[in-house]
Amino acid sequence: MASRLAADGGTPTVDAGAVKSWPPLTQADRDAVLAVFNSGHLHGTSAPRALELQRRWAEYIGTKYALVTNSGTAAIHMAVAGAGIGPGDEVITSAFTYWSTAAAVLHHNAIPIFVDIDPLSFTIDPALIAERVSDHTKAILPVHIHGMPADMDPINAVARENGLIVIEDACQAHGATYKGTKTGALGDIGCFSCNRSKNLSGGEGGLWTTNNEHYYRQAAMLREFGEVVLPDVPREYNAYGLGWMYRPHEFVNALILSQLDRLEYNNAKRREFATFLTTELANIPGIKGPHTPDYADPCYFSYVIEFRPQEVGLDVTPGEWKRAAQKALKAEGVSIGQWQNMPVPQQDVFKDMVGYGKGCPWSCDHARQGITYDPAEYPKTVAFIDSHSYLSGVYPPNDMDLMKKFVDAFGKISENAARVMDLAKE
Ligand SMILES: Cc1ncc(COP(=O)(O)O)c(C=O)c1O
Repeated sequence: MASRLAADGGTPTVDAGAVKSWPPLTQADRDAVLAVFNSGHLHGTSAPRALELQRRWAEYIGTKYALVTNSGTAAIHMAVAGAGIGPGDEVITSAFTYWSTAAAVLHHNAIPIFVDIDPLSFTIDPALIAERVSDHTKAILPVHIHGMPADMDPINAVARENGLIVIEDACQAHGATYKGTKTGALGDIGCFSCNRSKNLSGGEGGLWTTNNEHYYRQAAMLREFGEVVLPDVPREYNAYGLGWMYRPHEFVNALILSQLDRLEYNNAKRREFATFLTTELANIPGIKGPHTPDYADPCYFSYVIEFRPQEVGLDVTPGEWKRAAQKALKAEGVSIGQWQNMPVPQQDVFKDMVGYGKGCPWSCDHARQGITYDPAEYPKTVAFIDSHSYLSGVYPPNDMDLMKKFVDAFGKISENAARVMDLAKE
């Protein structure tokens, strides 16, 4: 007989407080940050930890250059500026991403153009990119969402055919690989976030990679006031163009460096847990883990769960089943929730096209006229968001016992599907 749901007065499957938060912080992390405090070197892109992190990150990703910065958004903006993209230029990106991917394009007066996803990999569908290329297009900005590499070979092929730059939003993909190469080394420029939630966390922070010396120097200028502030160049105190203040603190650099020592271990644990969950969920009707394309070794920034009502005999939409199941799973102590409620082009900033207040960049003379954003153009993104949730806790220091509890809870929800739906209505 099916065991009683916690939402129905039964015992929760997962004990309160059992799901530990990310990132795990060790004595080594504390010592690393304290060493900065004691060193007196707190500031600057030529400070010891900044330079060491740039060297180690370039080595880890496999690129010639890396830059430290203070967020993933800043890194993407540095990429756009570094690649010489400007007013009225168009950048093609995924409709399923965090909005800051597109914001960083707008910050340089360029225009994001969105493409729907391939629902299996949930990354930009390479087959739909070519039809979005216009005479204003300068770059393609694939997003390795949830730590899943986008299908880079066909993306790079479209870029080559049309003379476009490829900027990777690898903000969620530290250590993921595509056919053996790390994300961040698959296009012309790679961008990473190191905010609290990321596989490589400094609390906040960002990293940037390239093999191209020109992009590197231009991006470094945007990072610091439009000036050339590099260790090998005497500072002129002369701005060559607009720049921002995108420097990170040495505390953050030190914490990222210390966490980098454990990135491979942590990613291996995430992969072990994710593989276990996906195998087990394959046997649970109504609830499925993510598909992994042959080309990819994802780093599982997020573990994605799909809800399939027909498998449990429910005549409801995936979204209805998902929302009811989420409620019941939370009562079971499972850390499950939503990430993104709509495709990025459906957000008000694109509906209203207000930009900085007077319609720029869309209304700017440099822009191609007639650009609009129609949510109907992204049906696979809409369907994906409606049918998927995110299971939190699929990382160390959580362990296999917790993953087994998660599986038990999913099994309980699946067995009691009709009751789960009734309870959600109450
Ligand atoms: C896909 C993606 N791009 C960009 C960003 C921006 O990174 P940050 O928050 O460090 O600015 C994030 C952050 O969550 C992200 O997930």
